[in-house]
Amino acid sequence: MNEIIIRGGRPLEGSVRVQGAKNSVLPILAATILHPGQVTLQGCPHLSDVEASIRILRHLGCQVRWEGDELLVDSSSISRWDIPDHLMREMRSSVIFLGAILARLGWAEMSYPGGCELGPRPIDLHLSTLRKLGADLRESGGQMRCTAQHMEGREIALSIPSVGATENAILAACGAEGETVLVNAAREPEIKDLQDFLQAIGCQVRGAGSSTICIRGRCPTHDAVHTVMPDRIVAATYLAAVAAAGGTVELHNVDYRHLSTVTAALHEAGCRISGRDGRITLHASGRMGSAGTIRTAPYPGFPTDAQAILMAALLRGQGTTVFVETIFESRYRHVDELRRMGADISVADRVAVVTGVPKLSGADVRCTDLRGGAALLVAGLAAEGTTRIGGVHHILRGYEEPVRDLKELGAEIAWSEN
Ligand code: UD1
Repeated sequence: MNEIIIRGGRPLEGSVRVQGAKNSVLPILAATILHPGQVTLQGCPHLSDVEASIRILRHLGCQVRWEGDELLVDSSSISRWDIPDHLMREMRSSVIFLGAILARLGWAEMSYPGGCELGPRPIDLHLSTLRKLGADLRESGGQMRCTAQHMEGREIALSIPSVGATENAILAACGAEGETVLVNAAREPEIKDLQDFLQAIGCQVRGAGSSTICIRGRCPTHDAVHTVMPDRIVAATYLAAVAAAGGTVELHNVDYRHLSTVTAALHEAGCRISGRDGRITLHASGRMGSAGTIRTAPYPGFPTDAQAILMAALLRGQGTTVFVETIFESRYRHVDELRRMGADISVADRVAVVTGVPKLSGADVRCTDLRGGAALLVAGLAAEGTTRIGGVHHILRGYEEPVRDLKELGAEIAWSEN
């Protein structure tokens, strides 16, 4: 499954179910080790990042098994507190295990998480919040050794609302004595889902979804079943695909409220959108218009993860759309690939200006990162002729069955083994 081949230009019709959220299940998988018993995660997406987390859990001594789309994790016999370098390098989210391992065992040893294609992604905030809880962290030669025999809850203000640092702090605080109050916490829905999971196993966490989160540590835990929330970025991708290719599609297993900035942009550009009871319907016909200026921001602002995807949907729009990427330094690497298809995009520092062109042409392109890869799928559906997308392992980090789903909607799309 090396390449995806798309013959673009066909409108999309029908309905598709959205998978469970990658960015929710990864911290939840780390959180499973807080409970020395069994948890069941329903609606767990089959993703390469999930498999990477499972390899870490198994290395730590957990029993993990799939039953369809349920993942059962039993952490009662956890026997290690270290994560080897090759597992840390597989994905950046592996760093979320740090807070969870410290909370459960009081020791942790790991290297720095995998490099990333979005520019520098430091973990200074993760480490400083753990230190504030009382963890002793020593770093040498890219290796971190942490001891936290006695962590104590306190008020911690994050300098920026980092998603990962918020999650790491919540997990570590579950093992700290007394109450921790996180101020300027990230408000992403995935953090609320992590809270829901933690509450299900007996932890006392409240406030997620707001910028103040309170955690009472060292609560007794118990077995639980949790359903992973729907993936709002996968939903945004399929909405953008319909906007790009035209047609009418209903998504189910979505939360309309999580997508309000994305649907507002698509509406501004001319799509008709309605939502109810876990469903969203989008209708697009003719060329799109402009979406004005899109500025990425922490939730509830426009998600940086949907920036490339929306950009791809607007390449054939009439008019100009301006993107301002405020979260990551280097998040326009997909632009060169989109230009190969005839897109008119100019980039200066963190600003990208998309001027709509009447037509896109299929081309040989390569995924530069996960969401940049998804943008190529979207553009390929709108382009005339054949688009061959290489480097699709990036896409499989976050999309369970993109070819199956888009095919079901009528796209001419297939895997190639070349
Ligand atoms: C998470 C998401 C990712 C999304 C991002 C922003 C997961 C698995 N990944 O990533 O898909 O694009 O949120 O919504 O949930 N920063 C620091 N120091 C730190 C931590 C972060 O300077 O210690 C900076 C980052 O470099 C970045 C900004 O803070 O510029 C936001 O990053 P953060 O919210 O932490 O993103 P992630 O948790 O890595």
